[in-house]
Amino acid sequence: MAIAEFLTAGEMILLRKGYPGFFEKLSQVSLRGDSFREIFDILGDRILCADSDSWIEQRKTAHMCFKSMEFRKWVNETSLKEVGDYLLPLLTQAARKGCTVDLQDVFLRFTFNTTMNAVFGRDLKYLTSESPNTVAQGIDEAQEALTYRVLMPTLIWKLQRWLNVGAEKKLAKAREIAERFIEKCISVVRDDFLRGVEKYSLLTTYMKLSKTGDKFLRDTTLNVLVAGRETTASTITWFIWLTSRNPRVEEKIIEELRLVVSEKKVAERDEGGVEEKKQPWVFHPNDLRGLVYLHAACCETLRLYPSIPVTRRVVMKNDVLPDGSSVGSGMQILVSYYSLGRMPWLWGEDCLEFKPERWINEDGTPNQEKVSKLFAFSISPRTCIGKDLALTQMKLVTATLLFNFHVQVAEGQSGSIRTAINLLG
Ligand code: HEM
Repeated sequence: MAIAEFLTAGEMILLRKGYPGFFEKLSQVSLRGDSFREIFDILGDRILCADSDSWIEQRKTAHMCFKSMEFRKWVNETSLKEVGDYLLPLLTQAARKGCTVDLQDVFLRFTFNTTMNAVFGRDLKYLTSESPNTVAQGIDEAQEALTYRVLMPTLIWKLQRWLNVGAEKKLAKAREIAERFIEKCISVVRDDFLRGVEKYSLLTTYMKLSKTGDKFLRDTTLNVLVAGRETTASTITWFIWLTSRNPRVEEKIIEELRLVVSEKKVAERDEGGVEEKKQPWVFHPNDLRGLVYLHAACCETLRLYPSIPVTRRVVMKNDVLPDGSSVGSGMQILVSYYSLGRMPWLWGEDCLEFKPERWINEDGTPNQEKVSKLFAFSISPRTCIGKDLALTQMKLVTATLLFNFHVQVAEGQSGSIRTAINLLG
């Protein structure tokens, strides 16, 4: 698919300027479809793959869990702990020694830990571990194998699966490791839950809602792990890459953060506390929530590098889309969030430039009209349920990094895009 096209179906370019109402219409005329569920069978029939009534019911439950105060508090606490106890010491040590760090790997470990904490309430200390985590590795291998499934003719990968060879052999092994590990986690959480041990996790919230079947819990938690880890880590990586190439933006973010720090110091002094010299500085997620420029830089990163670059749907019935294009039953539709973020008619002639200012009004308030065009989390009704969690983590990690360190991209790093499947591509 040509990158500059908004949307294609087969050879046809369907939509250019008819995007208002497009996603609502899309949800009326199309489904994920059976072919999608067949390819992504490791996710079961849970939220990422579900359609119709099953999706509505799962979405309602997930919404209750993700939007609860308890969940938000837990995410704040565990992300803060992860940054203060593991990320900062690790980077401080690396900076002191002057070594080169693979930040993408660090962010992947970070988001794996924070997602595990959110889902199971378990701290794997994966950031400080010397050895690779077999489950995280398994998920990576599974995603690689799923790329082949998307690219290969169905018959070929099915034959490979039947013969248990090639990528399919790897996938079967990775799946077994991931499922066994998750089942073990579920059993620990369930034992605690039945003994009345009050420890928060997404899983206990599902258990309280009487969603207790083993397969249901296993598939649901795997869906969240797959949806939340690489998406957030790759966005943080792009953010750091983009700011390292745009020192003007980096300086403006730091300026905004300096204000937060000085306000906190004044407040501490007024409260009679002794002003301690906090170096390196750890931000609380609540300190960062209202920062307009930092938020704009997150949106701008997601516009240029959406971690789910494309999504697909199958048309259920003949219909007409908002731009007047006809779609036919059974047709596959690919929507490119990547292309949508780079359309001159949507973003202006400078659409390829990294300019957080485009998200801010002249009076310094967020530009709501632009915010409604942030396609990276998709648009209602199938919008990302982990959006707030992802933004919280992005802001926490990027603010901590930029305020306390200066990142210099190692020589020879070109910022290229790896071919990979990010759940829905
Ligand atoms: C920067 C990070 C993220 C991005 C860019 C992102 C993007 C998206 C997009 C585009 C969709 C819709 C896909 C489609 O309809 O084809 C989606 C769905 C979803 N996301 Fe995210 N996501 C991110 C982080 C997360 C996190 C951290 C979680 C949870 C821990 C999460 C959980 C989900 C779930 C469960 C869905 C399915 C929602 C549904 O179908 O109702 N995401 N995400």
